[in-house]
Amino acid sequence: PCQDGLKICCIGAGYVGGPTMSVIALKCPEITVNIVDISEPRIAAWNSDNLPIYEPGLDKVVKACRGRNLFFTTQVDQCIKEADIIFVAVNTPTKKVGIGAGRAADLTYWELAARRIAQVAETPKIVVEKSTVPIKTAEAISAVLHGAGKTQFSVLSNPEFLAEGTAIEDLDAPDRVLIGSTLCEEGSKASQTLADVYAHWVPREKILQTNVWSSELSKLVANSFLAQRVSSINAVSAICEASGADVDEVARAVGMDTRIGPKFMKASVGFGGSCFQKDILNLVYLCESMGLPEVAHYFHQVVQMNDLQKERFVSRIIHGLFNTITGKKIALLGFAFKKDTGDTRESAAIEICRRFIEEKAQIAIYDPKVEEEQIWSDLTGACQMDKIEVQKYVTLCPDAITACDNAHAMAVVTEWDEFKDINYNKVFEKMIKPSFVFDGRNVLDHELLRKIGFIVYAIGKPL
Ligand code: NAD
Ligand code: UGA
Repeated sequence: PCQDGLKICCIGAGYVGGPTMSVIALKCPEITVNIVDISEPRIAAWNSDNLPIYEPGLDKVVKACRGRNLFFTTQVDQCIKEADIIFVAVNTPTKKVGIGAGRAADLTYWELAARRIAQVAETPKIVVEKSTVPIKTAEAISAVLHGAGKTQFSVLSNPEFLAEGTAIEDLDAPDRVLIGSTLCEEGSKASQTLADVYAHWVPREKILQTNVWSSELSKLVANSFLAQRVSSINAVSAICEASGADVDEVARAVGMDTRIGPKFMKASVGFGGSCFQKDILNLVYLCESMGLPEVAHYFHQVVQMNDLQKERFVSRIIHGLFNTITGKKIALLGFAFKKDTGDTRESAAIEICRRFIEEKAQIAIYDPKVEEEQIWSDLTGACQMDKIEVQKYVTLCPDAITACDNAHAMAVVTEWDEFKDINYNKVFEKMIKPSFVFDGRNVLDHELLRKIGFIVYAIGKPL
């Protein structure tokens, strides 16, 4: 059973902090949950009707708890002081400069949060690593926390496994909850307190309690395995295109082996999202630092294969359009890194657009959820151009049909469900002939499109 009146504070109101804490508040009405962030606009958005992230089902959960036992605030110090458990869910991006630049995790935000906790806390706290961090981070964090020598801290690792677009479902019924702690009595007690919170709705047998290093490493390994599956099927898609096999048929045949399983085998334009690449590169860096260059090389291939897949898609389009796309109009359907999210971090669409701009093509983009300013910011960053320069090549459209008007080709980059229901007869009428479709997600009805008159290229499919 959980202590009555337990107080939780979560530092970082992002894609992880927001949804995870909202679900804890929903499932544990007797626990008070404060989510704090240094970003005032982000907190203001969490307190408004227009939440800062799009996630199916999230609105409902927030509305049910906000103002009851769930609060969003910038009062970081006060919430730290009052809390029994402090989750830290700040961003841990890839380092941009210095040792390990381009690979190692940048723990600046984590360290700042830990220093704040150390400075402000007056009573013992359980500090929980919710962010994805390199193995052995708990040790460094513990040193920072205890540096001030004021009070006792127990550091737990509790990585998050939710996927964007299905975050609420994933949190509601997780495959497992992982809690890592030190093996001393203090650590086990803290681990038990956190396990009791999750036990409000997660079956006990799904709550794994391990040592802290196993927990930290498991998160990096889980993401590396998932990304590896995507790179594996994408590598197979290249073989399919060269041989006449069909990647979906191969995935089905292979995935029916219960040892392999059918999930996460959809060939694509390449994986995106804020974590896969970041976490693999982090693992690669750790392996190198541990004197394991061959192991590092093995995992690095997953990222290299992903880069190749994006470039293969671009090359296919250029070759399909008679070896040049200069001045040609390409309708790009989807900009988010996957469906059901407005998140564009590391989206394949960004690199694909950068390459199109390099070839001086005209791009008309439509995405149902991504904010316009986000697209401009991603493209100016990727192309190292200002917005006016980017706008010479890119227009943003209110719907798919407008994007396809007078286009030479249409490319599906995100698998939004609504792209299946577009009136393709109408699209065909509006496009320049011959009209090309490049399905980067294998979600359209290729037979129907060919009947209408389109020339269709799909990932890992015979022509
Ligand atoms: P995010 O960028 O959406 O959110 C992080 C938030 O932390 C931001 O709002 C930022 O303003 C805030 N912040 C940074 N430093 C702070 C400080 N010192 N004090 C208070 N607030 C601070 O990031 P995210 O996507 O939620 O990811 C957070 C962590 O969770 C990362 O380590 C990531 O690898 C991991 N993770 C992410 C996902 C995902 O689906 N996005 C899933 C599992 C794990
Ligand atoms: C992923 C993991 O699935 C989560 O378990 C993890 O918590 C999270 O990373 C994280 O640490 O951030 P997420 O990136 O939100 O979640 O989304 P995924 O569904 O894993 O998709 C990642 C990328 O792979 C997307 O671009 C998706 O389109 C692509 N993908 C996925 C494929 O191309 N094919 C597939 O079969 C599956």
